[in-house]
Amino acid sequence: MTTTGPAELTLIQVSDTHLLPAGELMHGRVDTFALLETVAATVASSTGPVAGILLTGDLADDGSPASYRRLREIVDPLAATFDAPVVYAMGNHDERLAFRAELLNGAGVPADHPCDSVHLIDGLRLVALDSTTPGRHDGWLTDAQLAWLADVLATPAPRGTLLIVHHPPLPSPVPTVHLLRLAAAKRLADVVAGTDVHMILSGHAHHAGAGALAGIPVWISPALAYDADPMPPDGRLRGLLGGGFSRIDLIDGQFVATAIPLTPAGHVYNNDRAEMVEFIRSVTPQTTPG
Ligand SMILES: [Fe+2]
Ligand SMILES: [Fe+2]
Repeated sequence: MTTTGPAELTLIQVSDTHLLPAGELMHGRVDTFALLETVAATVASSTGPVAGILLTGDLADDGSPASYRRLREIVDPLAATFDAPVVYAMGNHDERLAFRAELLNGAGVPADHPCDSVHLIDGLRLVALDSTTPGRHDGWLTDAQLAWLADVLATPAPRGTLLIVHHPPLPSPVPTVHLLRLAAAKRLADVVAGTDVHMILSGHAHHAGAGALAGIPVWISPALAYDADPMPPDGRLRGLLGGGFSRIDLIDGQFVATAIPLTPAGHVYNNDRAEMVEFIRSVTPQTTPG
């Protein structure tokens, strides 16, 4: 039986898939294709409809056409299951020419042209900004991109806007991530301040995190490929096996981002949902304490 949760609208955000051609493992030990298959199976068997699938950068580890085709092997059927559009955003491991040719169905645009895009999903606008610079791993938005964004945001969308930027426009406690953050994020803050942007969705850091830019929440999705340890032993930096993805829900007029770990774990409980919701309702007064 198909059930629905409290969300009016649910988006799935998968970041940093770092796919490779068949037979290759990331860092010689991570099968990112298998991890993405797990995400697809998890989402396909979950509660409620999915309105959109957001792939927020570092989609291919090597930027090769073969890796992007493997991505679509999994993402296309998942999107078809929900009749959901897919938003592809660039990350610093992606290559614009192959990315555009394989994912955006448009080859032939010069590589120095950023892959920015606008989408409308059930009245919610999604703007994907390409924060990459060819040949570099840190984040940057050009003056032309920011001017374009200001132009797009000048007209509010019916349900407002979510902005996708691979590089978090935030400082980071992890020194390598801090070096590779979106540079001069104040320039972006000046554009989004006072607009209808509800939330900024990022990835890149390989660990979940949150902050704010111009008062707008910034969500850093966990990476699919592996976790960067945000509190390693003194003097060390570590990448840990395990990863995750995110769900972005609109509930009672508010957006909420939630990290979903992929690391297998035992059950503390595994109950019938309707029975458990009814139990919690039965022990929760329907009036506020005040
Ligand atoms: Fe990444
Ligand atoms: Fe990245």
